[in-house]
Amino acid sequence: MKKDQKTALSGLIGSMLIATAGFADDVDVSKLPAPAEKQIDFVKEIKPLFEKSCFSCHGSKPRAKSKYFMNKRDSTIKGGSSKEAALVVGKSAESLLVHYVADLVEELEMPPIDKRDKYPKFTTEQVALLRAWIDQGAKWPDGVELKLP
Ligand code: HEC
Repeated sequence: MKKDQKTALSGLIGSMLIATAGFADDVDVSKLPAPAEKQIDFVKEIKPLFEKSCFSCHGSKPRAKSKYFMNKRDSTIKGGSSKEAALVVGKSAESLLVHYVADLVEELEMPPIDKRDKYPKFTTEQVALLRAWIDQGAKWPDGVELKLP
């Protein structure tokens, strides 16, 4: 094999390794419930869930070390100190927030497992509603802000 062929080959193997490493936290989206098959009303169906289970730690002054603000749509989509988008609008199965809420990512279950006496875990039906809301464009009417319940 010529030297430049060898270099090309090791480059290829290198990038294959990197691609595989990207799956290290192996999110099995087949475990997600299917999105609910109905039109979702954010204010009635999603906002109260966020307020009850998330907002104490992810409010306008987040208590969580992630600095993830869930009071407005923009910041809820943007994510926190991880610098990764929490929501992919239109693609709930690719949204980290959905993975965390459905307990698909170890150490990043939301709400945190040891805090669920105060902040309830989403039920399967609620994850299905959340998915439908994201798939339908994560509509969040102007001027609506989350509040503590
Ligand atoms: C008791 C406090 C608490 C509650 C309640 C809570 N979280 Fe968290 N959240 C955390 C902490 C702490 C982190 C940072 C974890 C880490 O980086 O190891 C975090 C991180 C996150 C992140 C990653 C943000 C980033 O980019 O760094 C998302 C997304 C998230 N939470 C979503 C939620 C959602 C959605 C809910 C409600 C279903 C919720 N959390 C409820 C404490 C909480």
